[in-house]
Amino acid sequence: MNTILVGAQWGDEGKGKIIDVLMEQADLAVRTQGGNNAGHTVEVGSEKFVLHLIPSGILRTDKKCVIGNGVVIDPVSLMGEIKGLMKRGIDPAGRLFISESAHVVLPYHRQIDELRELRKGDGKIGTTKRGIGPAYGDKAARTGLRMVDLLDLELFTQKLKGRLEENNAVVSSLGGTPHCNIEVTAELKEAATFLAPFVINTITYLHEEIAKKRNLLFEGAQGTFLDIDFGTYPYVTSSNTTAGGACTGSGVPPHKMDRVMGVMKAYTTRVGEGPMPSESDEIGDMLHGMGREFGSTTGRARRCGWFDAAITRFAQMLNGIDEIAVTNLDGLDSLAEIQICTHYERNGERVDYPPADLRKFAECKAVYKTYPGWQQSTSNVRKFTDLPPNAQAYLQAMAEYTGARLAIVSVGPQRDQTFWV
Ligand code: IMP
Repeated sequence: MNTILVGAQWGDEGKGKIIDVLMEQADLAVRTQGGNNAGHTVEVGSEKFVLHLIPSGILRTDKKCVIGNGVVIDPVSLMGEIKGLMKRGIDPAGRLFISESAHVVLPYHRQIDELRELRKGDGKIGTTKRGIGPAYGDKAARTGLRMVDLLDLELFTQKLKGRLEENNAVVSSLGGTPHCNIEVTAELKEAATFLAPFVINTITYLHEEIAKKRNLLFEGAQGTFLDIDFGTYPYVTSSNTTAGGACTGSGVPPHKMDRVMGVMKAYTTRVGEGPMPSESDEIGDMLHGMGREFGSTTGRARRCGWFDAAITRFAQMLNGIDEIAVTNLDGLDSLAEIQICTHYERNGERVDYPPADLRKFAECKAVYKTYPGWQQSTSNVRKFTDLPPNAQAYLQAMAEYTGARLAIVSVGPQRDQTFWV
C-alpha cells in the first residue's frame, strides 16, 4: 500500500504527527517537495522533535527515509538537522537517502527571498525567507545547482562562479550586498562532505523498494492552498504541494499510488498573507491564549478561523482524497458553539470553491452552519465512539462536507493521542 499524505488547508495541519502514526504500517517515508520552509512537529513521550527537511519517519528507527528529487535542500540546514538528531540518539546513517537530483538552496537564494519581500512592502507574500522561491526559480531557469554537483567541490566552485555573478547582480539591484565566492564555498564545504554518504539515485532505489513490495508513505509538506498551481497565487509556496507533486518529486508513477489521505485541522489556520474567508479573531484569540498556533519554522502567530469546507472540498477534488485525518479537535473543546463554513457568498451568489481571482476570493463571505460544542476535554479519548456525541457529529460533518471518509482523529500532540475511526 503506497499512500500519499497531503495537507488539505494552508499547511500546518499536523501532518508530522499523522505521518508518524502512518509510519507504523509503512517501511519508507518520502519527502517530495518544498524545503526547510516546512516544519513537522512530532512529540514522542516527553520529547518534542521539529523536522524541516528530514521526513518525520526518521523517528522510527527501523524505517528508511528518502528526500526526493523535488525537494530543494539547504545543505547547511540539513547537516544541522542530521547532527541534531544524532545528538538525541537517532542516527540517520544507512536509513536516510538524499536524491542526487535535488536542487540546492544557496545563501544568495535566502538573500534574494528576503530582499524581494522587503521590496514588496505591504504586498509581501510572507515567505519563510528560507530561499525556497529563488531556488525553485533557478531550477526552472536551468541555472540551479544540484546535490550531484555538490559531490565534486572543485567543479561545484567553478559552476558557482557563473551563478554568483548573475545572482549577485540581482542582489545588488534589490539593494543588498552580494556574497563573494569564498564565503559561499566555506559555508558549504563542511556540509558537502558531511552529506555525501547520504546522496544516491533515489529514483532507482524507490523502484527497487516497490519491487520488494515495501509500503511507501509520501509525506507532503505545506498544504493544498499553498500549491504553486492550485493555491491562492501569488500567496503560495513555489512547489506542487498537491498529490501530483508526490510523483514528480520522487520519480514514482501515479499508478503505483494506492491511497491519498488529506490532513486537516478541526479549524483553519494560515501563515502569511492572502485571503481567508473564515478568519475569526474570536477563535484566533482563544487558540493563541492556549499557547497554540505559533509557527514551528518562524514562530509567527498563525491566522486562525473556523473550519472552511469550501477549501477542503476543493482539496478533495484536486488531490483525489479518499480519507481524511482530523487534527487538533481538542482545540475546540471549550466552545459552546462551533461554526463550519459550508460555502461562500459573493454579490448574492453562492460560491462552492475558492475563485482563482484573488479579488473575487477576497470578496467571498463565509456562510456558516452552527454546531453545538461538547465543552469537555477530549484529550484523553482514544476511541471514536468514546468522543462526546457532539464531537462525533462535528467530525462526521467535516468529512461529509469534504466528500471523503473520516479515518483518523487526533486529540493532542502525543503519539498516543491519535486513533483510527
Ligand atoms: P515560502 O515557501 O517560504 O516561499 O513561503 C510562501 C508561503 O508559504 C508563505 O505564506 C509561507 O508562510 C507559506 N509556507 C511555507 N511553508 C509553510 C509551512 O510549512 N506551513 C505553513 N505555511 C508555509
